[in-house]
Amino acid sequence: MAAIGLFYGSNTGNTESVSYIMKEEFDKIMPGGVEVHNIGRSTPDDLLKYSYLIIGIPTWNTGELQDDWDAFMPKLDSMDMKGKKVAFFGLGDQNGYGFNFLDAVGILADKVMERGAQVWGLWSSSGYQFEESKAKVEDHFLGLGIDEVGQAELSRPRIQKWVKDVKAEFGL
Ligand SMILES: Cc1cc2nc3c(=O)[nH]c(=O)nc-3n(C[C@H](O)[C@H](O)[C@H](O)COP(=O)(O)O)c2cc1C
Repeated sequence: MAAIGLFYGSNTGNTESVSYIMKEEFDKIMPGGVEVHNIGRSTPDDLLKYSYLIIGIPTWNTGELQDDWDAFMPKLDSMDMKGKKVAFFGLGDQNGYGFNFLDAVGILADKVMERGAQVWGLWSSSGYQFEESKAKVEDHFLGLGIDEVGQAELSRPRIQKWVKDVKAEFGL
């Protein structure tokens, strides 16, 4: 089993593609270190097997969780995540949904912290233009922000930097 379990949800494939790019980047610095899973086909036990988790979620329907994460959310209430190290990445559209940019990351990260996990992989919110975000705390997002609609050219370099940050912050 790999050290890190990456669990994503994706309605139209962007978060899925980003998940595999992330695995590709991890493989360069930590070969075989990450296993990718679709949360729509995963159980709580699948997540709890890992001490290190990466969670990928796009925001949908103006400030809502992606469908498969929405369905999984009630299961988190009975999951003990104490001691788990978790890093989030979110997909969103800052131009189209500037009042709800990456909200799903904030909603899900709050729940995961409530279950006892530590959240790592915070990411500066400078370089994005938006009005409001539930993912924003002071000058940071609670995870990496990816905008495949308005800033697709920045995705790869952002992922490359974040992957290195997360590996170091996880202590791996
Ligand atoms: C109907 C609709 C609602 C959306 N709502 C939001 C939103 O509230 N906040 C946000 O940041 N992005 C929003 N988005 C943008 C998506 O998160 C973005 O397209 C993302 O890349 C989709 O990821 P997926 O292909 O993995 O499902 C919305 C997109 C659509 C089409």
